[in-house]
Amino acid sequence: MTAALRPLAIAPSVLTADYSRLGEVCVELEQAGVDRIHWDVMDGNFVPNLSFGAEVIASIRPLVSLPFEAHLMVTEPTWILKSMVDAGCSRLIVHAESCTHLHRTLGAVRDLGVSPAVVLNPATPVDAIENVLDLVDLVLVMSVNPGFGGQRYLASMEPKVSRLRALLDERGLDVDIEIDGGIAPETIGDAAASGANVFVVGSAMFRDTEGFAHANRQLLDLAAAAQR
Ligand code: DX5
Ligand code: ZN
Repeated sequence: MTAALRPLAIAPSVLTADYSRLGEVCVELEQAGVDRIHWDVMDGNFVPNLSFGAEVIASIRPLVSLPFEAHLMVTEPTWILKSMVDAGCSRLIVHAESCTHLHRTLGAVRDLGVSPAVVLNPATPVDAIENVLDLVDLVLVMSVNPGFGGQRYLASMEPKVSRLRALLDERGLDVDIEIDGGIAPETIGDAAASGANVFVVGSAMFRDTEGFAHANRQLLDLAAAAQR
């Protein structure tokens, strides 16, 4: 499948939600028609911030039927994989930089019966994952340094996305490219044009004064107009 034909999806990150009403926010996101919920799991070690863990995610699981994906910003995440699956995540995204044995960790995710995905920090080249591309369903390219919501989009990641898309297509691999950080109406078009088809959206989702459904629709329309 070429980049132009890959389905577009918005994956809201609830990192910047009001945690006192996290459940309601997830219900509202589902009603707004988003594709999935992106959970930014931070351990305070791999990144200088702490967010939520399996118990919080599990408490929200019965409220919505949307797929959950966990972006694991966790040093050597092997220990947390099973609890994330038990909490109801159907995709686990592990950092190339945090796994000494990345190939083994992605296999462990597959063995748990969920979808394996890998994520690259801005400084990490595509080469770092060249030998595990056949093990994943999705590659996440960070367009900010992980750890915090609301950071400025790094347009300099776009050539990396394009190189990755070309490599995946060349190998005939059916793998989505997701992009995470600073995605907003101003940036999503260029991200889509570079070859990304799944978009993590944190603060821009919550900033839209017309609500989640409007934000979701607007972002999808802008991505569709730019996708090639
Ligand atoms: C950063 C996280 C992102 C981020 C998205 O560490 O992985 O998911 O919070 O938030 P915005 O869209 O505000 O950059
Ligand atoms: Zn994320």
